[in-house]
Amino acid sequence: MKARIAVLPGDGIGPEVVREALGCLDRIADLGGHTFVCQALPVGGAALDACGDPLPASTLEACLASDAVLLGAVGHPRFDANPNPLKPETGLLRLRAGLGVYANLRPAFVHPMLAGASPLREEIVRGTDMMIVRELAGGLYFAEPRSLTAERGVNTLAYARFEVERIARAAFEAARGRRRRVTSVDKANVLESSQLWRTVVKEVAADYPDVALDHLYVDACAMAIVTRPASFDVILTDNMFGDILSDEASVLTGGLGMLPSASLGGAVALFEPVHGSAPDLAGQDVANPFGAILSAAMLLRHALGLAAEAAALEAAVYDVLASGRGTRDLAVPRATLGTAEAGEAVRAALVPRL
Ligand code: NAI
Ligand code: MG
Repeated sequence: MKARIAVLPGDGIGPEVVREALGCLDRIADLGGHTFVCQALPVGGAALDACGDPLPASTLEACLASDAVLLGAVGHPRFDANPNPLKPETGLLRLRAGLGVYANLRPAFVHPMLAGASPLREEIVRGTDMMIVRELAGGLYFAEPRSLTAERGVNTLAYARFEVERIARAAFEAARGRRRRVTSVDKANVLESSQLWRTVVKEVAADYPDVALDHLYVDACAMAIVTRPASFDVILTDNMFGDILSDEASVLTGGLGMLPSASLGGAVALFEPVHGSAPDLAGQDVANPFGAILSAAMLLRHALGLAAEAAALEAAVYDVLASGRGTRDLAVPRATLGTAEAGEAVRAALVPRL
């Protein structure tokens, strides 16, 4: 197949980890007879330096003309004093809005090699493999009215039927590619918006008789994520609850540098590692590229429909871990690989899997 991929390396370690992910996509293209046309575009601090705008119009246009967007990370302390429209992170928020993505997929997978590095006891985290599907475009972070005076700050938690319906479909679709279980998380014992959420999720579930559905209140879910994390498959939840629960789940995995994400549902899907630009590591060839590589795997699966290639790339990353090798942030026996070496190790493991 032929696909156009917009590549936004961004700041700090972004360019270093994205380079390794692109190397993996190149290898897959070579071996599978695919053509991936990758166009590098500025975003974040790199774009502020180049043209004074963290998301230049030309970058957004090129993204919208692509089949998928792969992003590294944005941000650097030297922009901390900038006013809001001129912060690198504003570029990322505008990009998500410009693409219209509303479904944020964040897997939390505990590789057996890293289970001992989890803050939880190994026997509790072993087997954890969950996918949090977070509503990204509505709810408390966007609904009106919102206001701030010296005496009163106002935000509104509101969901429209169509917003719940489309995120629920995203979760059920994701579950079909996994273990076919959705846990919908809300606060329906207190919140009307959650009562609508629960009603609509149940209606959507009727279209997915092959997927099991259960419901949890968010406070109970927060406890369950640390007491029985391995029991979850897909967690479907709103914007704020998902923000909190996905960070909670991510720390179980023993490696921020390992975690990918996908933002789907808009005109073009966006894929990016969960970590930031790690300015402390930039330029030293020590950053972990696995989160970026696993984001490229999600891109293959969700944007290009190349499920077998996606699975092979994920398996290649896990092969490297299983061999005890990794970058220095990982609690593996031989945590000595540089960024480029780690990428090359994945590519070497990938070839026999394709
Ligand atoms: P961070 O994720 O960049 O770093 C947190 C810690 O994890 C640091 O100790 C860092 O060295 C380590 N780390 C992160 N990624 C790693 C990797 N791939 N390999 C090895 N170690 C890794 O978060 P922090 O320090 O809070 O923010 C740094 C900058 O990144 C800020 O400007 C922040 O605004 C931005 N940021 C951007 C995000 C994005 O682009 N999506 C997300 C989070 C933060
Ligand atoms: Mg967060």
